[in-house]
Amino acid sequence: MTYQDILVETPEPHVGLVRLNRPQVLNALSARLLDELARALDAFEADPDCRVVVLTGNDRAFAAGADIQEFVGQSAVSMIAGHRPGAWDRIRRFPKPLVAAVSGYCLGGGWELAMLCDLVVASETARFGQPEINLGILPGAGGTQRLPRLVGKHRAMELILTGRQLTAQEAYTWGVVNRVAPAETYLQEALALAREIAQKAPVAARLAKEAVLRSMDTPLDVGLDYERKLSALAFGTEDREEGVRAFLEKRKPTFRGR
Ligand code: COA
Repeated sequence: MTYQDILVETPEPHVGLVRLNRPQVLNALSARLLDELARALDAFEADPDCRVVVLTGNDRAFAAGADIQEFVGQSAVSMIAGHRPGAWDRIRRFPKPLVAAVSGYCLGGGWELAMLCDLVVASETARFGQPEINLGILPGAGGTQRLPRLVGKHRAMELILTGRQLTAQEAYTWGVVNRVAPAETYLQEALALAREIAQKAPVAARLAKEAVLRSMDTPLDVGLDYERKLSALAFGTEDREEGVRAFLEKRKPTFRGR
């Protein structure tokens, strides 16, 4: 598959890597880039060898938001009828663990993209913000919904109503990144985290992701029932047999994703 606005690699077994690649505009998320990202994730979803994907930009920017050039001439109708919402839906439904490796600007849709990832490793240079208010609009790819769930109402209001940027350290303190790493090593750290997850049972990892995401929009008793069913499902896998047997035999398990 060929892409123009992203680079796709498999840097090590079971780990996919997607680099957003429009450096001349700080990786602004054009409709084409979003479509390519959705297609790349579809391909990783279909690839049984892929267990985890890392999503990154470059050192200066993860992504500085939607491509503002593409806003010219848009209307309410064209925004609803265009390809963007469909691409975002495909990206957010990616069922395998997704790790964001963020350096530099992570703004607007860029942060919304990082927020829909399951873990975030940030370079100490990373800056997170929702500046849409400065353009006379508001976040439109999950920011007003995910951010309050992550940081609480008042902090989310502050960021969305003022457009203020968080430093990497503030983002860590606010619980929206897992780790802050030196600028030279953030991608290696994200890949190491991905490698660690890739060694676990892939089906269980998918089910665990699904269960955790369900907790965000489900009352507790419904979520607990759902978790019980997914947990029971994991008992039907060969990997569960291997995991339990390996524990009892005091050896490392070899998971095959079956
Ligand atoms: N969409 C389209 N182009 C963008 C962009 C975006 N979201 N963000 C940056 N660019 C472009 C700039 O227009 C500039 O292009 P040019 O070299 O042809 O003039 C290039 O990327 C570099 O950006 P520049 O503004 O010169 O860099 P900077 O270091 O001075 O400022 C930012 C960096 C991130 C503070 C600034 O680019 C910015 O505010 N970007 C928009 C962020 C935003 O509002 N995102 C939400 C969109 S809904």
